[in-house]
Amino acid sequence: MTAILSSSRRSKPASLDPLMRLVADDMQAVNAVILNRMQSEVPLIPELAGHLISSGGKRMRPMLMLACSRLIGQPETVHYKLAAAIEFIHTATLLHDDVVDHSDLRRGKRTANNIWGNGPTVLVGDFLLSRAFEMMVESGSLRALDILANAAAVITQGEVDQLVSQYQVETDEPRYLSIIGAKTAVLFAASCRIAAVMAGCSDILEQNLANYGQYLGIAFQLVDDAIDYMSDSETMGKGVGDDFRDGKVTLPVILAYKRGDDKDRIFWREAIEGRRISNEDLMIAKDLLVKTDALTDTLKRAHEYGDKAMSSLKAFPDNAVKEALLETVEFTIARAY
Ligand code: IPE
Ligand code: IPE
Ligand code: MG
Ligand code: MG
Ligand code: MG
Repeated sequence: MTAILSSSRRSKPASLDPLMRLVADDMQAVNAVILNRMQSEVPLIPELAGHLISSGGKRMRPMLMLACSRLIGQPETVHYKLAAAIEFIHTATLLHDDVVDHSDLRRGKRTANNIWGNGPTVLVGDFLLSRAFEMMVESGSLRALDILANAAAVITQGEVDQLVSQYQVETDEPRYLSIIGAKTAVLFAASCRIAAVMAGCSDILEQNLANYGQYLGIAFQLVDDAIDYMSDSETMGKGVGDDFRDGKVTLPVILAYKRGDDKDRIFWREAIEGRRISNEDLMIAKDLLVKTDALTDTLKRAHEYGDKAMSSLKAFPDNAVKEALLETVEFTIARAY
């Protein structure tokens, strides 16, 4: 698999380091806001939220917002509270997603739902979402509030739509793309767009940045859905095969089902619709995904969206910031975690 995942542009594997270095000082300030605003007089709230927040996470979305504002040349227009609000929306989504997906592992630790149960996890997710809205209002930008409020609604729509298509092996590609565009890509797009909004950029530049985020987000989820079968729990910090066990019809499954013979299709129907999800079934599923090139082609598709993301930055000057944003695309495609 390494050959498929390795990047053609550079000798060293693509990483998030350039992006992280670029916004390191800003992110320290954002992290301080995050820690401050997750506090509550009810101790269970910071305990549960802190469990997830302190276990790391790549912080890609706020970093992208900060980097995009530098690409435009106006880093001073960005608000740390908006960056923190974006990470809170993401964190709330993860808390809720792990409940919905019955996941036990996240960022290499037991999930909040596994430790405290579904009730507290859902409610703390709501708390963080509400704190995010407070910070958006404090930013004073009605447009940022509009974009992020819309993103929060669309993410939930995507998650609900995915629930509806769960266990339905006939789910098609357009439906899948619409789900991942909503549940994942929209927050990436919003993070990049807000940098343009705060700097008062032209509509065209704003759209370019939103496109960069949207395409990057689609590539990000395509890779996520491939590595759910390919990676290992230690690297990913999440359970391998979780999507299979939970009857998720992601692009790898859609391609393998479409390309399979009659026997393969019976297997997929029994597994996904009939919920036959033993470890042995997972092994069979992985073999079929390899046999039908479903994983390779899912990654290829991620590559295509990555190219679109990169092309969206054409209008911006070539400099170190743009280079970091381009490498972020490459990292997203090559990532194993
Ligand atoms: C996980 O996002 C949720 C998906 C969209 C697949 P990340 O992979 O960015 O999660 P963290 O924040 O780095 O843990
Ligand atoms: C959910 O996708 C993306 C979100 C918006 C949270 P997944 O369910 O695949 O995310 P992971 O794999 O649990 O991080
Ligand atoms: Mg999940
Ligand atoms: Mg999910
Ligand atoms: Mg996943």
